[in-house]
Amino acid sequence: MAATPPMGWSTWNHFHHDISDALVRREADALVSSGMRDAGYVYVNIDGGWQGYRDAQGVLHPNSNFPDMKALGRYIHSKGLRFGIYSGPGPRSCAGQPTSYGYEAQDARMFASWGVDFLKYDLCSFRDIMKEQSKGDVAKSDALMKAAYEKMHEALEAAGRPILFSLCQYGWGEVWTWGPEVGASMWRTGEDISDRYDSMSLNGFGQAGLEKFAGPGHWNDPDFLEVGNGGMTEDEQKTHFSLWAMMAAPLIAGNDLTQMSEQTRRILLNREIIAVDQDALGRAASRVFKAGPIEVWARPLEGGAMAVALFNRTTGATRITLRLKDVGWQGPAAARDLWEHKGIGVLSPETAFTVPAHGVTMLRLTHPER
Ligand code: GAL
Repeated sequence: MAATPPMGWSTWNHFHHDISDALVRREADALVSSGMRDAGYVYVNIDGGWQGYRDAQGVLHPNSNFPDMKALGRYIHSKGLRFGIYSGPGPRSCAGQPTSYGYEAQDARMFASWGVDFLKYDLCSFRDIMKEQSKGDVAKSDALMKAAYEKMHEALEAAGRPILFSLCQYGWGEVWTWGPEVGASMWRTGEDISDRYDSMSLNGFGQAGLEKFAGPGHWNDPDFLEVGNGGMTEDEQKTHFSLWAMMAAPLIAGNDLTQMSEQTRRILLNREIIAVDQDALGRAASRVFKAGPIEVWARPLEGGAMAVALFNRTTGATRITLRLKDVGWQGPAAARDLWEHKGIGVLSPETAFTVPAHGVTMLRLTHPER
């Protein structure tokens, strides 16, 4: 599962808890009509806000905005899409709605019966249980957390349907070192993203050093995309999308797909950048150069190519020099600009690019034909 980073859409970043069956269907339709499904965005993930109450038999019921989850799952599948849902190891979500504590097996079976393909499992109130039972012993608290994720992992296996397991516990306990052991295909590496350059930067650039923990089947997740939500400039959003693709992060759009501007489409549907994210080698980028607010990241691609991104984190346009030796490139390099969609010829050992404020230049290097 998740041989390449999962791609799709989630309700959370744009709609928060204000969601319904009708809204999810509309967004699923838009995934198809916008061309996003065909570009790889296949998961339709309902985040927090769907739960209603748990009855005396332990059955968790959706709230009245979701009258028939099985039918919704069928609708999503009929569009060639996959169905994602949200729960957590604690008794309640961060918004106070019931989650799976003590009902893991029952919930897993129910999700499987609804046709669920993806489960985001959010720590939230389980933190209180960790605090209470560990009495300040951090190792014990981490062990409790890991066991809680393993419990749902086993419940999902027993439920007999392949369900992608997505961990959300904000990077606690160095989750990247044990995520694969509890069956995770992806794990959040930090706190919630918000629609601002500083938040996106913290989650994105802050992931430097974690690249060795990502690979086919298990990915670092710096959180959903904020592209198209209005809080960032075009260059900031290009930085966001480029950085996520360089890091081989899941590309889960978080905007209203029924109201996309041309600019938003051009970013989310940049197939050359999606191809970097989805490259079959599955090697996440390393930061190969940093000088203050200037960063260069590079990622090897299948067939001997390489993706390189030059990030300008200052508030003015600036020159950034790409030195081929910094990215470990041997011999001459032919370069293609992945935002301009054009070849820019063979590079000198040192080439300077003008990169806009909070912006990026993203290149694909190949060995020129002799
Ligand atoms: C947070 C989580 C967010 C979102 C939210 C829903 O704990 O980090 O990504 O799922 O809960 O209430």
